[in-house]
Amino acid sequence: MGYQAKLRVWRGDDGSGDLQDFTVEANEGEVVLDLIHRLQATQVPDLAVRWNCKAGKCGSCSAEVNGRPRLLCMTRMSIFSEDETITVTPMRTFPVIRDLVTDVSYNYTKAREIPSFTPPEDLKPGEYRMQQVDVQRSQEFRKCIECFLCQDTCHVIRDHEENKTAFAGPRYLMRIAELEMHPLDVADRRNEAQTDHGLGYCNITKCCTEVCPENIHITDNALIPMKERVADRRYDPIVWLGNKLFRR
Ligand code: SF4
Ligand code: F3S
Ligand code: FES
Repeated sequence: MGYQAKLRVWRGDDGSGDLQDFTVEANEGEVVLDLIHRLQATQVPDLAVRWNCKAGKCGSCSAEVNGRPRLLCMTRMSIFSEDETITVTPMRTFPVIRDLVTDVSYNYTKAREIPSFTPPEDLKPGEYRMQQVDVQRSQEFRKCIECFLCQDTCHVIRDHEENKTAFAGPRYLMRIAELEMHPLDVADRRNEAQTDHGLGYCNITKCCTEVCPENIHITDNALIPMKERVADRRYDPIVWLGNKLFRR
């Protein structure tokens, strides 16, 4: 049965804004994005919201519902009680463009900073051979839909604009880990992960993993193994001696 849901939606731009209250019809089986669309269609035609697939696969509709980073199209109204006020705000870590739409270009900048897959020079495309276990490891990371909810939730940058230059965020540290663990990638990414992409800022709080809509084990399967590899390199006595002698 339908009911009148209470929505509190942030409206504004990069200069100012506030939370505004609305009452919107909700029907059985609907998600928060349905109500935002109904609000747009019936009361606030210029409400800005980014979305595309409405199936949890494009990563466009990321926002925060009651303060938790979520995909609006995958957040069922049935998880809230009918008399609850549901607060919908833009992702806090990124600058607002308007209403629920944020400027996520930080993430594209970080993506470009990571050197691409580097296979051995004597291997041509078509000659790559890998074990299934290595394929599966990469496939987990490749499920990423680039919703940036993990980036939004990570405390290292969520309230610390000043860390954004030095820290790539969980999504891109995961990309570095994927390449570092790839058996055909010959680049040594351990030093860069630590010095250029801020792996040391991550203190394994696992909040990124908790909000990932693809259920990727970002912390356990990417960040912790990457930290172990960096530690191996730094504290290996032979590597340490080599670094001293050759001042690398
Ligand atoms: Fe979104 Fe998960 Fe990819 Fe992060 S790792 S961008 S939370 S899909
Ligand atoms: Fe941030 Fe995830 Fe590490 S939330 S601190 S990148 S475990
Ligand atoms: Fe595509 Fe929500 S609209 S993930």
